[in-house]
Amino acid sequence: MDKVKKKPSLIEVLKNNNNNNIPVWLMRQAGRYLPEYRELRKNAGSFLNLCMNAKLAAEVTMQPLRRFDLDAAIIFSDILTIPMACNRNLKFVENEGPRLKPIEKEREILELKITNFEYLEPVYESLGIVKKQLKADKALIGFAGAPFTIAAYMIEGKGSVNFSKCVSFFYANEKLFLLLLDKLENFITNHLIKQIEAGAEVIQIFESHAKVALDENKFKLFCIDPVNKIINKIRKIYPDISIIGFPRNAAKSYLEYGKSLNVDCISIDQNINIEWLIKNLKMTNNRNLCLQGNLAPEILLEGGEKMIASINNIIDVFSSINHIFNLGHGVIKETPVENIELLIKTIRSREK
Ligand code: CP3
Repeated sequence: MDKVKKKPSLIEVLKNNNNNNIPVWLMRQAGRYLPEYRELRKNAGSFLNLCMNAKLAAEVTMQPLRRFDLDAAIIFSDILTIPMACNRNLKFVENEGPRLKPIEKEREILELKITNFEYLEPVYESLGIVKKQLKADKALIGFAGAPFTIAAYMIEGKGSVNFSKCVSFFYANEKLFLLLLDKLENFITNHLIKQIEAGAEVIQIFESHAKVALDENKFKLFCIDPVNKIINKIRKIYPDISIIGFPRNAAKSYLEYGKSLNVDCISIDQNINIEWLIKNLKMTNNRNLCLQGNLAPEILLEGGEKMIASINNIIDVFSSINHIFNLGHGVIKETPVENIELLIKTIRSREK
């Protein structure tokens, strides 16, 4: 074996057939489980202060890469900076999560626009800072929320299990809801294009609340069509940019998502039968699609032998397809750092 042969980067795995190498990064790899993050956050005063300071955001982005042999850095920001830049008064309440001024009147949608670009600009600056520090074989990931997920937070005014206010809204006034998605689609597209201009080589689109719109017709209207527009506009300018879509908890609709959208990779949560998905995607799709995922964050939290067995099982199940190792959702804040060390060691031991 050629010992000096360079191992393929995350992007090479994402774009080409290569099952010998298993790139790995973790959603929420920068965050509260890291003592150095908690320290910086304490000094900054809040999570949003970290996001709004390009130098600190860049530092937080790099923290997990200094500790672990990860293949990618994801820029430190939040999907809710878009509503924040639309002047929807975002704040994060300790132990409760995000709060926004909920959309209640038609006029608020008709008049919706980005009024505070200064809430988005630190992301572009921090991408530039990270790019300079990042080794050439590490991928730099930018991201945004998908229109439906952001709309759900904007109508509800906070996180929710079933987003019932948002569901009532789209049943009562689908036309207006579609206008909201349309406006968000434009803001998100511009935000992603600027991230690519600033150095992002991969972008991930988070549809964290896909489950709220799971009837097939609504999934197409709310989760596929708007994201399709985003991807097509981006690919007109950057045809080869790597795009990962993450319709979390979309269950069987993952298939439709993979068939309909020009993504390079789909990120998979832990609640789906991967064999079924791979079989059906292969049957319906000749594209060289890559899948990302899907260890349960709760298993990473537990660690130990059970985690090692789960990691090995995931690597086996995904072995017939290009695979990026990741979680099914973000790292839980109580996760011991040693568990992440063990996770990476286990994955590396499986590379050929
Ligand atoms: O993955 C990464 O490391 C990159 C940074 C990132 C954050 N949020 C940082 C963050 C990314 C990609 C996100 C995306 C995001 N934000 C999503 C989509 C992914 C998902 O989790 O489903 C959503 C829904 C949000 C909205 C959001 N931001 C919520 C609901 C919360 C509170 C949840 C919690 O754990 O308290 C946040 C806060 C947030 N975003 C934190 C981080 C590191 C915690 C901030 C802190 O308390 O220090």
